[in-house]
Amino acid sequence: MTGGLLMNRNPRTENTRITDEVQRNMRTVIVYGSQYGTAKRYAEALAGRAGSEIRSHEDSINLDAYDNIVYIGALYTGGVPGLKKTLSDIHDLQNKKIVIATVGLAGISRRSWLFLILSGLATGASWLCYYKALQIGEASKVVPIDKLSVVITLVLAFVFLNEEFTT
Ligand SMILES: Cc1cc2nc3c(=O)[nH]c(=O)nc-3n(C[C@H](O)[C@H](O)[C@H](O)COP(=O)(O)O)c2cc1C
Repeated sequence: MTGGLLMNRNPRTENTRITDEVQRNMRTVIVYGSQYGTAKRYAEALAGRAGSEIRSHEDSINLDAYDNIVYIGALYTGGVPGLKKTLSDIHDLQNKKIVIATVGLAGISRRSWLFLILSGLATGASWLCYYKALQIGEASKVVPIDKLSVVITLVLAFVFLNEEFTT
């Protein structure tokens, strides 16, 4: 898990503080924004320890009813889906304690994400072209030409990466 805690940078201390505040009858809710379930699992773990309520950012919640609001959201291309809307649903920001934590993959830059996404799109497009070629051409010609990509990879690796041909 990477990311930032706006109010407190030590998750252990934050966890203890939230537990203390729950015991003092302050209402705490943990809101998560998660597409594939990772941020949700962190939210569930924290809610289990703190004994607080937990909601998805897609649920309709009256956030004004809570004293402490923790948002745990996944990072998607540098943004945190659901965070902006959740914050805009809190009308009394000054009197709330708000913690924001993000979940993401460390070490992958925006530039890398751009090329990963472009690579995915190119791969998808190549499959569509392959199926179209099979549809309009003879499989006995299309398939061997497609397999030439293996030979091209070997040549490119030899020329640009100085790799040796292996058997
Ligand atoms: C399209 C896409 C974009 C992503 N962008 C980022 C990013 O900018 N920074 C980052 O740290 N992680 C990024 N991730 C990784 C996710 O944040 C990470 O897999 C996270 O655990 C997903 O959380 P979730 O399972 O709760 O949806 C991206 C993942 C995908 C699929």
